[in-house]
Amino acid sequence: MYHLTCITCKTVYKPEPGRYLCDHCDALHGTLEVIYPYENMIVNKEFSKSLGMFQFQKLLPVSSHTPLDDYIGGTPLLRFDNVFNQNVLLVKNDGMNFSGSYKDRASIIAINKAIEEGNDHIFCASTGNAASSLALLNAHTDIKTTIFVPKKIPEAKLAQLMVAGAEIYPIDASYDEVFDISLDIGLEKKWYTRNSAVNPYLLEGKKTGAFEIIVQNDYVVPDYCFVGVGDGTIISGLCKGFDEFYTLGLIDKVPKVIGVQAEHACTLKKVFEKKPYIPIFESSETIADSISVGNPRDVIKACHYLEKNGGKLIAVTDDQILSAIEQLAQTTGVFSEPAGAVTLAGLLKLQGNEIQPDDLVCLVITGNGLKDISAVKLQSVKTYSKDEVYDYFEKRLK
Ligand SMILES: Cc1ncc(COP(=O)(O)O)c(C=O)c1O
Ligand SMILES: [Zn+2]
Repeated sequence: MYHLTCITCKTVYKPEPGRYLCDHCDALHGTLEVIYPYENMIVNKEFSKSLGMFQFQKLLPVSSHTPLDDYIGGTPLLRFDNVFNQNVLLVKNDGMNFSGSYKDRASIIAINKAIEEGNDHIFCASTGNAASSLALLNAHTDIKTTIFVPKKIPEAKLAQLMVAGAEIYPIDASYDEVFDISLDIGLEKKWYTRNSAVNPYLLEGKKTGAFEIIVQNDYVVPDYCFVGVGDGTIISGLCKGFDEFYTLGLIDKVPKVIGVQAEHACTLKKVFEKKPYIPIFESSETIADSISVGNPRDVIKACHYLEKNGGKLIAVTDDQILSAIEQLAQTTGVFSEPAGAVTLAGLLKLQGNEIQPDDLVCLVITGNGLKDISAVKLQSVKTYSKDEVYDYFEKRLK
């Protein structure tokens, strides 16, 4: 069994239905984490390189209840020699997850928890991926899905929501405002929430990417692991996952986790750089819509986990992100959405200072490029008539 602990005041709570946050702290300081009795647990190097995330059941707070569970996670860990000046580069391609993003790992936990606790309605505020993931993964259950998103989400993510049949509220507001609106409505109606940070179990799904990186790399631990950061839940999950494998004796060190944000959406970075950690709210503006967050909800948790991990947060420009999308595709074949390609932009930024060619680096690609093609400059492609194409090649052949 496990219990829930407040990230700030350390109050311990039973994992009872309806328990989301600490009673003594505000919403940003009072997020809860799931703690297992590690000292009584025996976990061996018993995992498969190809199975999905429910193979880590011993370290998950839910059982598997849906036909999709076996197909979430288990995404490829690609290995490239001598690319981007690294002797070896690992690329964890979560764009190949069920709905095309890392968020599936959290959504499937939320759905299983909602089933276990007997809920008939689940809701979520999202920059797009968490919502499309929840809507698709939950489409076959009897639980109703209600989604709140900023009206500006990319078309492909909206399409996923629509075909899934979810009840959708695209709102003329920022993600940060949409988040508050969704909680006002959803919690009052006693619907189950899949909102980042508020639901303590999401992190448990998000940590499984860390487990898979270790297992798929034969328990050889990367020196650095790069990931895009918005609310700070994925990065916290990665840190927790590496930490749990370390605590259980499966690895003898953890990778330094480097969170990458966009230059004009890097509130979490600013908070992390000054102790004590004091949350700030800012407006955010970046082409990486998934990480356009000005009021990160897992800010305190992410700061604590990063401090323990020894990692840090860095920021890159939108131009660097756009260039990284193409460089990543042209070098590895992986088409990433902007929030995933920030990892390569971040690596390129740290090379030569902190990161050397013989460091083993892993990039976590959190979203598929097909989810947001507006970031790619398609208008620059010239088109031809049939005659023009023949003419063009005849001229060349002569
Ligand atoms: C593709 C992608 N990458 C990274 C993130 C950042 O995750 P978090 O908000 O947990 O920091 C998100 C969140 O929506 C995302 O969709
Ligand atoms: Zn507390």
